[in-house]
Amino acid sequence: MQKAKVILDKDYEIAPVDPKVFGSFVEPLGRCIYGGLYEPGHPKADENGFRTDVLELTKALNLTVNRFPGGNYTSTFRWEDGIGPKDQRPRRAEVAWQSIEPNLFGMNEFADWSKLNNSEVMMTLNLATRGILEAMDCVEYCNLQSGTYWSDLRISHGYKEPHNFRYWCLTNEIDGRWQVGQTTGSRYGELARETSKAVKLLDLDIKTILAGSSAPTQPTFPVFDYEALDESYEYIDYLSVHQYLSNIKNNDLDYLAKPLSTDQFFKDVISVIDTVRAKHRSSKRVNISFDEFNTWHTLGSVGRFDYRWQTAAPLLEDVYTQIDAVVLGMMFMSILRHCDRVEIACVSELCNCISHIRTRTGGGVWVFPPYYTWLTFSKYARGTSLLPVVKESPKFDSDNFTDVPYLDIAAVSTEEGGLNIFAVNRSMEAALPLEVILRGFESAALIEHIVLESENPCDTNSEDEPDRVQPHNRGNSALDDGILTAMLPRLSWNVLRINNVAGLL
Ligand code: AHR
Repeated sequence: MQKAKVILDKDYEIAPVDPKVFGSFVEPLGRCIYGGLYEPGHPKADENGFRTDVLELTKALNLTVNRFPGGNYTSTFRWEDGIGPKDQRPRRAEVAWQSIEPNLFGMNEFADWSKLNNSEVMMTLNLATRGILEAMDCVEYCNLQSGTYWSDLRISHGYKEPHNFRYWCLTNEIDGRWQVGQTTGSRYGELARETSKAVKLLDLDIKTILAGSSAPTQPTFPVFDYEALDESYEYIDYLSVHQYLSNIKNNDLDYLAKPLSTDQFFKDVISVIDTVRAKHRSSKRVNISFDEFNTWHTLGSVGRFDYRWQTAAPLLEDVYTQIDAVVLGMMFMSILRHCDRVEIACVSELCNCISHIRTRTGGGVWVFPPYYTWLTFSKYARGTSLLPVVKESPKFDSDNFTDVPYLDIAAVSTEEGGLNIFAVNRSMEAALPLEVILRGFESAALIEHIVLESENPCDTNSEDEPDRVQPHNRGNSALDDGILTAMLPRLSWNVLRINNVAGLL
């Protein structure tokens, strides 16, 4: 295959990567929580009922922010159901996922679990079927020290110190026709503005996240976002956007091209935000919270109605493979290339439902190949994102995309003066030779070339074969005189780590 050529200059900085882009999303959906993160009675459960085998895997991801509880679940969420003695909590018919919600894992349990992961909670308020007062009550319960009805109630529940949750989502995907409480951008924008105002009056440190339209492919995008922002611009801090890429039609070439739409989506969202900013003559910059993204093949909630009114039903349990690992990697790289505006990002979801971590209730836990993309991204993408200039790459056409480069690339310079390069070869047929001219890194040395590859695009791991697809660090690459050459295996995710040998970086 023809070579791909890139220039990477230490001075071509996009922005520092916000640590909040290493986030995740947990929804009381199927077995995400029950039988996933939380399973009292499981041999590996701790005294709180948290599965320690799952915790080991989530801790390794170094998550910074965890969004909870939703998600579609938010639209009929009563936060008070999940507090206080567990034997007094109500069981509810939860309509988003047609499940029975036993409310055994509420905000307090989520705060405890997040602490074990050293990560912050990002709470979602229900503005679809509830209003400003309930939102204020929730903030009072979570964030006020003491001496008020709700803060004292929290203390009586065993939480003397406030949780001090800083990030609050002002409901979820409220443009979606599947949402109970669906509404228009203007109506929602007004409610979100007033709620944001109220919760910030309670706690000056709070940052709020306005719900944008639920996907770039929704007919509501971008008008809903424009209208909601127009009503609330000065009062909110982030715009939430979501994207799931699907291979539902088993068209691998199209699927591999789809991450190009993530880049375009960010550009479009930024244009909408900045148009509203200009209209309001505002100096304030609203940034993006990409608080749900992933690949998802059971889109449309296949199977959901086979399990009506159960708890912990196996909903949305996609099996992810090598090709998904590569596609997820390209979504990560898109975040890095737009990290001047994307400040929060949460892989959706964390366990079992559309997730790269899979458990068996009462049994083991294993990870799918995209878990390793996530792990290596989270470990090595901390620093300042650099803009790679792709001078040449061989290209292909798929049914719905033209001129798709086989190479996708992003890079981060680290605090220690090193450089981590992320690269994908989209070709399912051939290895891709890569040449990167490094400027400002001439005296550096290659530490390792991590590769996630497999024989077939559909290779995956299972409870019986948990280690079938795993990364290795025997990548074929070299660094001489400031020129990095590497052979990217077909359909692979690569991390090339370079350090500062001579202290010249
Ligand atoms: O993550 C699954 C669902 O996808 C979420 O509940 C919703 O926000 C989105 O549509």
